[in-house]
Amino acid sequence: MISSLKCTPSSSSLTTSPFSTRKLLHLQKAQFSALPTIQNAQQDKGPSLFTSQKPLYLTSTDSFIKTRTTKNLTECQAYEADRSRPLEINIDLPNEQAAQKFKIGLYFATWWALNVVFNIYNKKVLNAFPYPWLTSTLSLAAGSLIMLVSWATRVAEAPKVNLDFWKALLPVAVAHTIGHVAATVSMSKVAVSFTHIIKSGEPAFSVLVSKFFLGEAFPLPVYLSLLPIIGGCALSAVTELNFNMIGFMGAMISNLAFVFRNIFSKKGMKGMSVSGMNYYACLSILSLLILTPFAIAVEGPKLWAAGWQTAVSQIGPNFVWWVVAQSVFYHLYNQVSYMSLDQISPLTFSIGNTMKRISVIVSSILIFHTPLRPINALGAAIAILGTFLYSQAKQ
Ligand code: 3PG
Repeated sequence: MISSLKCTPSSSSLTTSPFSTRKLLHLQKAQFSALPTIQNAQQDKGPSLFTSQKPLYLTSTDSFIKTRTTKNLTECQAYEADRSRPLEINIDLPNEQAAQKFKIGLYFATWWALNVVFNIYNKKVLNAFPYPWLTSTLSLAAGSLIMLVSWATRVAEAPKVNLDFWKALLPVAVAHTIGHVAATVSMSKVAVSFTHIIKSGEPAFSVLVSKFFLGEAFPLPVYLSLLPIIGGCALSAVTELNFNMIGFMGAMISNLAFVFRNIFSKKGMKGMSVSGMNYYACLSILSLLILTPFAIAVEGPKLWAAGWQTAVSQIGPNFVWWVVAQSVFYHLYNQVSYMSLDQISPLTFSIGNTMKRISVIVSSILIFHTPLRPINALGAAIAILGTFLYSQAKQ
């Protein structure tokens, strides 16, 4: 197969080699993503603070995971602006490779740091104000507001989306809303670390749902990697000192919902091209619209007003800043994670997500002085190890 590669929208084209079998396999496997798959190519035109125009998308995602044996050889994936299929060419680009690695490293570090801050403030707020439906709504509202203002002031370029886009996004947003509320409800009932230990079991849900609902088959090592994930989560759950069934089920429901979010995202968003940042912004807005009536029905303004007064009287005016911090950092960490999904393969992303859980688990245990039995920690370590093995097996 010969493909042509446009260097600029108007400039000359060059001819590339056919896809290698390995690359095709990689592409096929990457079809099942640990997170919503969005088009790497962007159709957005004009300057933007956060996104770069990418008529050509050059990256070396593999080299981020493992050191390549061939030095100075950058494997480039090229994306035309209106196509999502990578073309394979080999170009000597050591500087670009180093810059790309640095950029991805920066994305990851920012993503994890923002996530840790979000989890800490989220838990502080929930301890003083146990209304997870409202705090979930406020997180989405903050993100929606930030993005609407950014678009209005042209700090970020607004996406050009049509009704079909919103229709395709609706099931994704429903699943995102359920997953978000369920995780927040979980964190309102149990330690942050416990919620994230159970959430590290997401790959198991993803394989089981794909197998039983979609009839997808996986190689044996993938199934085997689920044993430590499920075993580790189960060990952690049965030895958790402050076990709470609502907290446990919230994390499990969140896992299930996020798997469906990824499936809907993959199916519905095919062929649509929106940058990661704008994709997440639209998701927040739609989720906010879905969640608000439910939050009012489940908790409601009366409970919120009473709870707010109690929280402010206990914590002082700083409580308001905690709420602002949890809301803004929720949006920021998700935005950065979706932006990094623009740059890396789903596989690299899922490894990054696992590392993120480790940083959240460790930092929350330290900050909140969460009591932890050694056997409980062992369960968490086994589950996390399982997710690494799963990533490797999927590779
Ligand atoms: C949420 O509130 O949506 C969850 O905390 C998300 O968790 P995750 O991004 O770590 O999966």
